Amino acid sequence: MLAVCVPAPAAYGQGSAAEQPAYIQIYLPDDAVLSFDSYRTHQIGPMRRFRSPPLPVGRGFYYVVRATWQEKGKRIDREQEAHVRAGQETTLVFSTQEEKESTTSQEPARPPQATEQKKRTPDVVFVPTPQEVVDKMLELAEVKKGDVVYDLGCGDGRIVVTAAKKYGCKATGFDIDPERVKESLDNVKKNHVENLVRIRQADVFTLDLRPASVVALYLLPQLNVKLMPQLAQLKPGSRIVSHDFDMRGAKPKREVKVMVDGEEHTIYLWTVPWEKE
Ligand SMILES: C[S@@+](CC[C@H](N)C(=O)[O-])C[C@H]1O[C@@H](n2cnc3c(N)ncnc32)[C@H](O)[C@@H]1O
Repeated sequence: MLAVCVPAPAAYGQGSAAEQPAYIQIYLPDDAVLSFDSYRTHQIGPMRRFRSPPLPVGRGFYYVVRATWQEKGKRIDREQEAHVRAGQETTLVFSTQEEKESTTSQEPARPPQATEQKKRTPDVVFVPTPQEVVDKMLELAEVKKGDVVYDLGCGDGRIVVTAAKKYGCKATGFDIDPERVKESLDNVKKNHVENLVRIRQADVFTLDLRPASVVALYLLPQLNVKLMPQLAQLKPGSRIVSHDFDMRGAKPKREVKVMVDGEEHTIYLWTVPWEKE
């Protein structure tokens, strides 16, 4: 999407003579009206991109960004400061929940795949897999450097980040919830695995899973079953690991228990093509 130019922001700090625009990416309800200081923008949609006029490199600037939308017949007004720097991208999220803080990164954040996907609510809430279980899932799937790991509903990105850090493989995390996408992107950045890990906002039921050789799941039994037509398309020898939930109709190759803080977790492993139950 082309970035729309907005007026110059307020400044702070010292800068150099070199100038570049700053970029701002904003996630918000589709029909929200957005303004930068007193400049009203005319874009609509769940993700909007803006570009400032050229700014001196090294100096800090900010916009006061306002978003207004209707929710259940009520008018919602929200305001956040977007702190921007020349050549960098800042992401803001306006949600019906608590507003999230902005982040600044050299790498542009990954866009959501489609408006429709942003509107869909998650089929299951975010509950993270304990790290010990993540480690065991990847071990059970015998992940190697040449693998491509997908986590369907990646939450905070811990599975894909661990796969990349521990095994040096490529990994992609998909989540339908923009807040989880943002958390995952932060996690990727914090762990310096941007070269190996991608995070995408997407509904897992719309994905072509064929590029993956390992798929991780922590959804629900009925969601695993719903994914079976997509999972059946994986290359022969691909592995599927699921935390706590089986997949009725597919006989697991292995079932392993892991105790974490007195709680038992089960990991199921299937290889493609799986044996029918
Ligand atoms: C139980 S959490 C698991 C998170 C992560 N995989 C882990 O094991 O730590 C499930 C995640 O799936 C996401 N989710 C739910 N329905 C989804 C859908 N249809 N498409 C993509 N993500 C979905 C939720 O937002 C949540 O982050």
